[in-house]
Amino acid sequence: MNPFQLNEKNVIVTGAASGIGRETAKLLYSLGANCILLDINEKGLEETNRLIDKSGICCALDLTDFDRFQEVFSLCKEKLGYFHGMVHCAGIPSFSPLRGLTVEAYEKVQKINTQAGLLLAKVFSRKGMYDSSKRCSIVFISSVYGLVGSASNVAYAVTKAANIGMTKALAMELAPKGIRVNCVAPGFVKTPLGEGVIKFLDDAYAERVGAMHPLGWGEPTDIACAIAFLLSDAAKWITGTVLSVDGGFTAQ
Ligand code: NAI
Repeated sequence: MNPFQLNEKNVIVTGAASGIGRETAKLLYSLGANCILLDINEKGLEETNRLIDKSGICCALDLTDFDRFQEVFSLCKEKLGYFHGMVHCAGIPSFSPLRGLTVEAYEKVQKINTQAGLLLAKVFSRKGMYDSSKRCSIVFISSVYGLVGSASNVAYAVTKAANIGMTKALAMELAPKGIRVNCVAPGFVKTPLGEGVIKFLDDAYAERVGAMHPLGWGEPTDIACAIAFLLSDAAKWITGTVLSVDGGFTAQ
């Protein structure tokens, strides 16, 4: 079988109502996967599901509602069977200089971007949830700003750097179970989140950010392709890695 195909793989995609998560769901579906679509935005989920011929299982879920993860996974498993993959695309930005940073803002971005991913991985890797007879794979999303600095962005940067640490630690812990764990670090991508960030920045900075990508801005499909690769058996010897998909942003 073509190792890039995802036939018969059951894959959970968070953040599936928009941007990178939606594009990932579309690509995974075209590669043969069954998708479980999670997001807080019910309408957006329905639209994503329409784009994949209504073949996905949609579940509106606030990913800060950690206590619901087990119940949601169990319900989806009843419908589809064991899980083979999970990608945590849901995320929010958080802009504030250090002097204006509030505990509430910090906790919110930390919960969605990092803690939810960690606790989803905890449920995914429980006995009876993932398919222990096949290769399984988890993908987290970091950012160029988990790797390099930018001002007024510390809370977001903490979460994205944490996702890299989480990737490496879990890669070691879950390898004996046959679960690989990797992370993609995107540069600026044209999504509601990416374009919102640019609106927040002043024009001069926005122009500079554009110029900092030798290959120009990314499209959601650029990130989706990297995620699909890491979920597939083509990446069966890759774990604990951070794959920069950033048009050259961090190469300079
Ligand atoms: P997006 O805003 O298009 O999609 C994010 C999704 O997360 C939305 O559908 C939203 O409803 C969902 N979400 C937010 N809070 C949630 C919650 N509490 N519970 C459940 N779902 C929730 O954003 P985009 O651009 O697709 O971002 C995806 C990931 O990629 C994020 O982790 C982001 O930090 C990361 N990233 C994005 C970059 C960009 O330029 N777009 C650059 C680097 C990283």
